[in-house]
Amino acid sequence: MSAPAPEPVRALRAPDAVGSTRRIRGWVQRSRSSGGILFLQVRDRTGTVPVTVRKDAVGEAAFKAAEAVQIEGTVEIEGTVAEDRRAPGGRELKATAVSIIHAGEPFPIVPEQTEEFLLDHRHLTIRSQDLVATIRVKAALLAAFRAFFEREEVLEITPPILTGNPAEGGSEAFTIDYFGRPGYLSQTAQLYLEAMIAPHERVYAITPSFRAEKSRTPRHLTEFTHLEVELAWCDLDGIVAFIERMIVEVLRDVATRCPEELTRLGRPPEELTGLAAPFPRLAYEDAVARLKAEGLPVEWGSDLGTAEERALTIAATRPIFLTRFPREIKAFYMRQTPSDPRTVEAADLLAPEGYGEIVGASEREIDVGKLVERLRAIGADPAEYEWYLDLRRHGNVPHAGFGLGVERLLRWILRREHIRDTTPFPRTPSRHTP
Ligand code: 4AD
Ligand code: MG
Repeated sequence: MSAPAPEPVRALRAPDAVGSTRRIRGWVQRSRSSGGILFLQVRDRTGTVPVTVRKDAVGEAAFKAAEAVQIEGTVEIEGTVAEDRRAPGGRELKATAVSIIHAGEPFPIVPEQTEEFLLDHRHLTIRSQDLVATIRVKAALLAAFRAFFEREEVLEITPPILTGNPAEGGSEAFTIDYFGRPGYLSQTAQLYLEAMIAPHERVYAITPSFRAEKSRTPRHLTEFTHLEVELAWCDLDGIVAFIERMIVEVLRDVATRCPEELTRLGRPPEELTGLAAPFPRLAYEDAVARLKAEGLPVEWGSDLGTAEERALTIAATRPIFLTRFPREIKAFYMRQTPSDPRTVEAADLLAPEGYGEIVGASEREIDVGKLVERLRAIGADPAEYEWYLDLRRHGNVPHAGFGLGVERLLRWILRREHIRDTTPFPRTPSRHTP
């Protein structure tokens, strides 16, 4: 009789698995040997299972080889499934045959290592249970967004990452040598999304965006996952309502896709399903007054940073829309408020519990003259934005959109101290390896 084919570890949990002979393969998470018995904990993508290896069951040579397998070494094991009430899946495997795929070298990650050491070994620490759960929630989050956009008839597009003009202020763009001409890594796909609404009306993109900000804060990465939406025939109120509905539906979906991972990481799924609209709205002007009353050094016209957003949201349990910002502190493409030329039709969504900005939204300026004036004011050459200005000359329509930082959202959902713990290989001013 031939050996059974390897199965996922979760197959051992089937009601009829007890007493049967099964084969699994995976990574050795723990190993302890005592008096001719070796206790292994074997992991694959579907779970972990304790494995008991007895010298008398597998033979002297196989036992010795199994004993020499290091943490994170890989094995294939055949055995009999037994009940084990103490094991996470309620099963153990009593080995009858062991083959070593790769015994491995001593695993460098051990308890009590410094944060720097762990980041230097990120290619190995991504196997830790918290990071595994985090990356699964991130995948669920992206899947939930895509499902939402499909329901809303918003089309996914693939904008370029290599660009000829910076879109969010040149000082924070990574410049590259593009065959002797200046090029930039994309800071936002927005301008391309705006071009795509004429043929498609409702579009989104999920791409990496790059910011050459030297900000060493727990919420800044130099490369992040940017989820951006652009909707034709939409104003500020329309885009704010869309974002609100999106956050409520997506978080509910994530809670049903991965309740165990959320619980493990300290966010009970009920907190996500319980989140209800409407989210409070707070005008920038009123936010400044509140911050001043709390003793923070801000004036009308100040940009609100990490500390200010923290103060505004620390006691909140629901996200807050901050609206109607001064024109000077916001990007050139935002629509001037018709009733107040000092402000723009913009809204930021701030996550509660102190986490701060996760979405930046605005209605777009559709007046070519005002766009040119704003480009000049920020020191940009309107000639370099000719193609963008062309969009206002051919089939110009009111439109609005937003960008959401996926890692920012995840940091709030999973209550992570630092944004780097929401992404497998974080990019910060001091690190672009591994
Ligand atoms: O507010 P931002 O700069 O807006 C834009 O780029 C718009 N053009 C987007 C659009 O309307 N299509 O960035 C949008 C979001 C922020 O709210 C934040 O969540 C995230 O992107 N973000 C960052 N996330 C991590 N690290 C950084 N350095 C980030 N900078 C922005
Ligand atoms: Mg912003």
